[in-house]
Amino acid sequence: MCGIFGYVGSRNDAAIMAVEGLKSLEYRGYDSWGIAWKEEGNLSFRKEIGKISGVDGTTLSENCTLSIGHTRWATHGGVTQENAHPQFNEDRTIAVVHNGIFENYQEIRNELKAKGHVFVSETDTEIAPHLIEEYMKEGNDFARSVQLACRRFTGRYAVVAVHTTSDTLVAARTGSPLIVGVERGKGYFVASDTPAFLRHTKTVQYLDDGEMLVTDGKTILFWDILTGEEHPKREIEITTNIAEADKGKYAHYMLKEIMDQKESVARAVNQDEAEILAVADAIRNAKGTFLAGCGTAGKACMAAEYFFSVIAKHHVNFTPASEFKLYHHFLQPQSLLIVVSQSGETADVLEAMNVAKAAGSKVLSIVNVAGSSIDRASDYTLHINAGPERAVASTKALTGQLAVLLLTAYALAGKLQEGKKLLLEVSSMINDMLNPRYVDRLEALAGKIKEKEDLYIIGKSWNYPMALESAIKIQEVSYIHAEGFAGGELKHGPIALIEERTPCIVLAGNDEVLPDILSNAVQLKARGAQVIGVSPESNEIFDEWIRVPDAGPAQAIVNIIPIQVLSYFLAVQRGKDPDMPRNLAKSVTVK
Ligand code: F6R
Repeated sequence: MCGIFGYVGSRNDAAIMAVEGLKSLEYRGYDSWGIAWKEEGNLSFRKEIGKISGVDGTTLSENCTLSIGHTRWATHGGVTQENAHPQFNEDRTIAVVHNGIFENYQEIRNELKAKGHVFVSETDTEIAPHLIEEYMKEGNDFARSVQLACRRFTGRYAVVAVHTTSDTLVAARTGSPLIVGVERGKGYFVASDTPAFLRHTKTVQYLDDGEMLVTDGKTILFWDILTGEEHPKREIEITTNIAEADKGKYAHYMLKEIMDQKESVARAVNQDEAEILAVADAIRNAKGTFLAGCGTAGKACMAAEYFFSVIAKHHVNFTPASEFKLYHHFLQPQSLLIVVSQSGETADVLEAMNVAKAAGSKVLSIVNVAGSSIDRASDYTLHINAGPERAVASTKALTGQLAVLLLTAYALAGKLQEGKKLLLEVSSMINDMLNPRYVDRLEALAGKIKEKEDLYIIGKSWNYPMALESAIKIQEVSYIHAEGFAGGELKHGPIALIEERTPCIVLAGNDEVLPDILSNAVQLKARGAQVIGVSPESNEIFDEWIRVPDAGPAQAIVNIIPIQVLSYFLAVQRGKDPDMPRNLAKSVTVK
């Protein structure tokens, strides 16, 4: 949440680059934005409410070599120009952009107020430039003052700071992501994510928690915030290309990413076999295997409980990552925590990992973003290789996560080749499914139900977590009230919600639970529901039938895809922006 950017080097369009860089970080927050740049010894700035995507930055200064920028997802204080970043000290000699939360900001703010500092925003961030100023007054140089300030902050944060008297960028992180882009001979970028500088360089250096850096554009130094010890960093070449991070011919990233699933599932399946087998061994030998993730990734974990049970006859426990710390009593050094995360930066997941590590347990992560905090903090990692996912609503990451989890269950059952064969077949089924006629049919269905206020989805077995996931997808992009249930739970309460023509989606497969879910569908129909079946076979109970291929144990993967497409069209037809839903952000780096 919140995207931050910084540049220093020999290019003289630093302000323009800040605007362009922030556009690629907008998925992290889009209620307001701001930049500051250094020009003739002063810090100039521009801060605005709203999205940066339509902003033309080309009229900005072409005479500046240092800039910072921020795109905001509000935590402390409403969406106002004062609360947008950068935040400044009173005489505007210091500017700071910040992602995360300074948990002890009230204490520091009161302390600074007592010393005469005047604050103009409601943000926690504003304490940073004021505190840095205090340390500078004591005779410390700028970088040292940032270091001393960071030692005072508690919570999770990444910051980039600049000062009028210094031609350097100073940045630090504890808990929130910050990556350096190295453009050899030309300068350095720092950003919350690589797309912010991808058009200039693919050479990166990763800042770790508790570290800071200072760069003047020619050299860069990294050190430990607490000890001051220098931490030299390797330069790493990343493989992401700009085209992958772009929406190409599609109107929205969400639709592009849904379509990417024609290839992305096959990429997820293409794992190093030795690594998958090592992971299967780790699960087999663990005393207790736990799965944790948030939102959509959490639903992948929940589906994996069924995969491991049905395919490998192995018990694993899923809990939402935000609840995981309550399970610490069950953890031992021989336990294994499997975390699933697209971004690899989700704060609740990082916290769950810390809980497991504190008990001496090992952590396996299944992530999309290589080099992310979760990736680097894990004992083992499997990458889903979905390519950049920019739309807030997760689509191709989910199917990649499901594919890797299913493959792992097959490996654990000693049937890796069988699992691989199934999933590669599923990949070509998805390719066939996502044809223009199929998409048009879902667009037409969206037209029929777009005015509805409530929508329910039921499923059983691995289709139950997919019913929950369907509800997330529909809610977050179309704002229709949608809820998912286990089919068998209807009669225990939710069926009271069904009225004449309430749309109810039934997720089914050709499996042993088909008779049960069909009988739940009959119960809905008897109360007047409009039953929309998503299944390989049609049935007379269905008012509408969305055909999906028969994918056996991988049914969850193919069943969720038409719901993703339907959600997309519900959003568009209701006039909503599916890529940037209200109140949300892509990477949830606060707890
Ligand atoms: C919903 C969605 C979220 C994420 C959740 C976890 O479409 O995208 O529910 O799944 O915030 O994010 P990651 O996977 O990055 O840990």
